[in-house]
Amino acid sequence: MASAPPNDALHEHDPRWSAVDEFAYGHLFPASTSLSQTLANALKHQEQSGLPDIAVSPLQGSFLALQTRLLGSKNVLEVGTLGGYSTTWFAASEAVQKVVTVDFNPKHTQVAKENIANAGLTDKVEFITDTGINALTKLRDEVKAGSRPQFDFVFIDADKENNHNYVKLSLDMTPVGACIIVDNVVRRGKLADAELAKTNSVIKASRECVEAVGKDDRLDATLIQTVGEKNYDGMLICRKVK
Ligand code: DHB
Ligand code: MG
Repeated sequence: MASAPPNDALHEHDPRWSAVDEFAYGHLFPASTSLSQTLANALKHQEQSGLPDIAVSPLQGSFLALQTRLLGSKNVLEVGTLGGYSTTWFAASEAVQKVVTVDFNPKHTQVAKENIANAGLTDKVEFITDTGINALTKLRDEVKAGSRPQFDFVFIDADKENNHNYVKLSLDMTPVGACIIVDNVVRRGKLADAELAKTNSVIKASRECVEAVGKDDRLDATLIQTVGEKNYDGMLICRKVK
């Protein structure tokens, strides 16, 4: 069946999505708690530092942190630090012992370091400023050499063209049972637009990543579509099975 090109206007800024985010987040994470205040401060600092408004939403951050608790993930690898908002969620999870977070942009790392310091979580976070490919290749080699522990949770949220490369590298430094999540694969429905993929490298790479994960018998995976204050998008959620 031919799919109609997604109409962006239909999939953006639906006020119900933000209203539900606000309602749910306000009740599940009351502003009075110190973690909520720390997280709100991290977002504000990121914004005031001029970083783009592309961090995970508060509910998405809480979803990621909840996964680490459900799975008992001790070592988290994050590809794409930005200002450290999702990093703060991970590091604040009592299940997590260590977060290694990678970003190619030193300004991102600097803002994230400040946020993690403000959160009192400096001891739990290691920052690497390098391209994702360089950093993950080096981390993979260190894990293989036994000089650092395997990662049991990986959050991929960086240059989307490399999504599948990051999944492949992650598979070489994770145990069976590890969770690998790729952010932003749905892109307001553009994932399903094969025509657009001919000219848009992000959509092309997103489609190839989903296709490759589907063919990879080391991974059991699903895709969850999301709406919310960050509009219509989704995450590819994988479990390493062998
Ligand atoms: C973009 C990147 C993200 O990681 C995200 O969550 C939303 C948008 C972007 O590059 O447009
Ligand atoms: Mg993202």
